[in-house]
Amino acid sequence: MADPNDADTIFKRFKEHSIAEFFKKNRQMLGYSGKVRSLTTIVHEYVTNSMDATEEAGILPEISVDVRELGEDKYSVAVTDNGPGIPKSIVGKAMATVLAGTKFHRYMQQRGQQGIGAASCTLFSLITTNKPIHVKAGTSRDSYECDISIDTRNNKPIITNAVDSEKSFKGFSVHGEFGDVKYEGGDHGIYEYLKRTALANPHVQIKLHEPDGNEILFPRSASSLPKRPKEIKPHPLGINASELLEFAQASQSRKISSFLIETFSRFTQNKVDEIKQAAHGIDLEKEPRHLKWEEAEQLVKVFKSLKWVSPELDSLSMIGEEGIAAAIKNILNPQFVSVSERKPRIFRGGVPFVVETGIAYGGGAGKKIGDAESGSILRFANKVPLLFDGSACAITDAVRGIDWKRYGIQKFDEEPVSVMVNVSSVYIPYSGVGKQAVSKEEEIIEEIKLSVQEAGRGIQRYISGVRNRNIQESKYKIIMRYISQLSGDLSELTGTERGRIEESLKELVDSKYRHLFADEGDGQGAADSRNGSKDSGASVTAN
Ligand SMILES: Nc1ncnc2c1ncn2[C@@H]1O[C@H](COP(=O)(O)OP(=O)(O)O)[C@@H](O)[C@H]1O
Ligand SMILES: [Mg+2]
Repeated sequence: MADPNDADTIFKRFKEHSIAEFFKKNRQMLGYSGKVRSLTTIVHEYVTNSMDATEEAGILPEISVDVRELGEDKYSVAVTDNGPGIPKSIVGKAMATVLAGTKFHRYMQQRGQQGIGAASCTLFSLITTNKPIHVKAGTSRDSYECDISIDTRNNKPIITNAVDSEKSFKGFSVHGEFGDVKYEGGDHGIYEYLKRTALANPHVQIKLHEPDGNEILFPRSASSLPKRPKEIKPHPLGINASELLEFAQASQSRKISSFLIETFSRFTQNKVDEIKQAAHGIDLEKEPRHLKWEEAEQLVKVFKSLKWVSPELDSLSMIGEEGIAAAIKNILNPQFVSVSERKPRIFRGGVPFVVETGIAYGGGAGKKIGDAESGSILRFANKVPLLFDGSACAITDAVRGIDWKRYGIQKFDEEPVSVMVNVSSVYIPYSGVGKQAVSKEEEIIEEIKLSVQEAGRGIQRYISGVRNRNIQESKYKIIMRYISQLSGDLSELTGTERGRIEESLKELVDSKYRHLFADEGDGQGAADSRNGSKDSGASVTAN
């Protein structure tokens, strides 16, 4: 009889896990937890891919999202864009191979990075409905349609039903059927996700077809593409040991010394010499792929002990003051907007980041809970809305940590105010694998606070202006009411004609309160003012 503790017996159970099994066990890591969230994740993956692809091709994105109910907890999702499409020879890998894509090892501010998104949707469809996804593409070279599924054992695409299609379509369209999902309104649903995407991407036009047949258009408010983010080399102070190892493994350089100079920014021969002095026992002449974990750890420690030129800051792509103001007016239609844009900062000594804030007040700002108004926090990282895990996020902490009374808002949770914060960086430190929260690093929270406070000052001026005005207006009305009575009494006393007294009193009061009616414009008390320089202040506009 076989010994149950024998290695042979034990290792009979040794199996390679297929990618599908890994996915089933770890689907929450990829955002597939909960029915509503899973559906939002699918839309997020396809829409971010569409935006990345159109922007890279220099095309103004037009994206349509079509969601239909097929049965209980079963929906179809179709996302179509006007981008460059995907070549026929690549489409299988792009949509059905986990960890395949065009965006790895590029130190550039883009939405996708790992090559997991599109394939995870294909897997999710396979696992929950046993169906392939259907794609249609029009590139400069070919126009085709096909079904794509995954050979989960081998992490390979299976393409079927490929046909040539109409030449007139240019772009990419993907259609899939998914189970274990649910369409819902509310803070975590697709409507909110797309609305926020439109807020942070004023150049994007998005159409949504909801399962009940409702069609919604989020129109663009900017007609030019954002400035292209520059690809930069990572700064030595911004990386950790495992990233250093990863770069070393991928390097083509012959020696560690030249690898360091080629891979990182601000790395010179002088720095290599300093490292030789400081890092005893590490042979910088050997091949990078022979770098060991302990050595990587030691090198990172040495990096931190040296003085470096600060990182370049032009890797950052922002929404911009004007973009935020235009999008907020377009999408939220508030009474008033105040925006702040600050200079890039650096966290962990080597990673540049920048924070932008827009605060909307009144009108469509805030959110309704029943009949009651409430403040709302709209979080973004690299212009991608973060809908989940709010309590784990630096943005939530920073906004909640602000003494809103100082900015004219008595109770944040009871007023029509939306605070939109976008944190941009080549390297956003997320607090979880789901990438839904910015980790609570001191330097980041501090910078977000400063940015929100700057925009807050604009709101404070507006609210106190409105309050003053309301007080004056009610005074004016009361006085006007008494003028008629008073004129009658005065007329009796003095014998002067009542009408004349009334007229001169009205004139007197009007002259004192004339400023109230000065720039009424559209009758809503519109005012447009810009204050503060780019550097120090918020810009404010009323709608
Ligand atoms: N709509 C699209 N248009 C053009 N290319 C696309 C589109 N969607 C996906 N791709 C390509 O497929 C690759 C894989 O996508 P994905 O799995 O989401 O990974 P990632 O976005 O992280 O690179 C992308 O890198 C891109 O090259
Ligand atoms: Mg992607």
